[in-house]
Amino acid sequence: MPDEMPNRALWDLRARVHGTTSGDRIYDVDSFLAGRQTLSALEREMVGEVAGKDLLHLQCHFGMDTLSWARLGARVTGVDFSPVAIGRARGLAERAGLAATFVEADTQRLPRHLAGRFDLVVATYGVLNWIGDLRAWMGGAAMALRPGGSLVLVDMHPAYQIIASLDPLVVDWPYGGGQAHRETISDTYACPGLEIEPQEAVQYPYSVGEIVTAAAEAGLTVTRLGEHVAVDLDPRSLLSRGEDGLFRLPFGDSHLPMLYSLRAHLPG
Ligand SMILES: C[S@@+](CC[C@H](N)C(=O)[O-])C[C@H]1O[C@@H](n2cnc3c(N)ncnc32)[C@H](O)[C@@H]1O
Repeated sequence: MPDEMPNRALWDLRARVHGTTSGDRIYDVDSFLAGRQTLSALEREMVGEVAGKDLLHLQCHFGMDTLSWARLGARVTGVDFSPVAIGRARGLAERAGLAATFVEADTQRLPRHLAGRFDLVVATYGVLNWIGDLRAWMGGAAMALRPGGSLVLVDMHPAYQIIASLDPLVVDWPYGGGQAHRETISDTYACPGLEIEPQEAVQYPYSVGEIVTAAAEAGLTVTRLGEHVAVDLDPRSLLSRGEDGLFRLPFGDSHLPMLYSLRAHLPG
């Protein structure tokens, strides 16, 4: 495994398992092919109207969300560094009868042919924790935008990432700093209880301040930053679900945010 792609073997394996394994609670390919929208209300609202727009989806996995944007009328390009994910995404586009371009690339080194081509750059749910060079990632997102175009990022909030367990409360992860944290991973959030072949992985914690600063340093103007305490997913199976069906992270009498959402544009 080349050093510059430390997590690729893990994601190749997960891309093989997701949507093909019984008990997968996230990636239901059959219902997607039957027309189900996979995008959350939050990302739809943050991104807005996409019909007729050029949309770049970073870390697209095997393409269900990318293709959901295509169903809403966007001209879509998905990027992922996993050849297995990109191969499956191309196959899924064909099966769904949807036009889409999928590019195998590291999002810290986006190919120059993507420069200045997109009205929207979108990345959601499990993105920056895999990225060692946050500055390069933001620089690539800014490079891909047309002047006036927007980056939308919806991702796990660091307040959620730092917590290993709620009862008892165990905090095992820094709030930010970007230092590499290595571990061996032998499971996947999509299929609780399933053991996969153990893979070495490295993840990086970023604070909200570090993420916003990286966007500003890439030349982007941040126009919206949301921190969300009631959300419709809990990929780490950490939280309990309220009667309204939403997950919350209790903190004293209140709640900590589970997701953040950021919109930033490239000045025209
Ligand atoms: C949690 S998934 C993202 C989920 C995605 N939003 C979806 O539609 O299912 C993370 C993705 O990031 C990709 N990835 C991780 N590091 C990457 C990198 N440096 N460059 C490109 N893709 C990367 C993985 O292959 C995986 O598909």
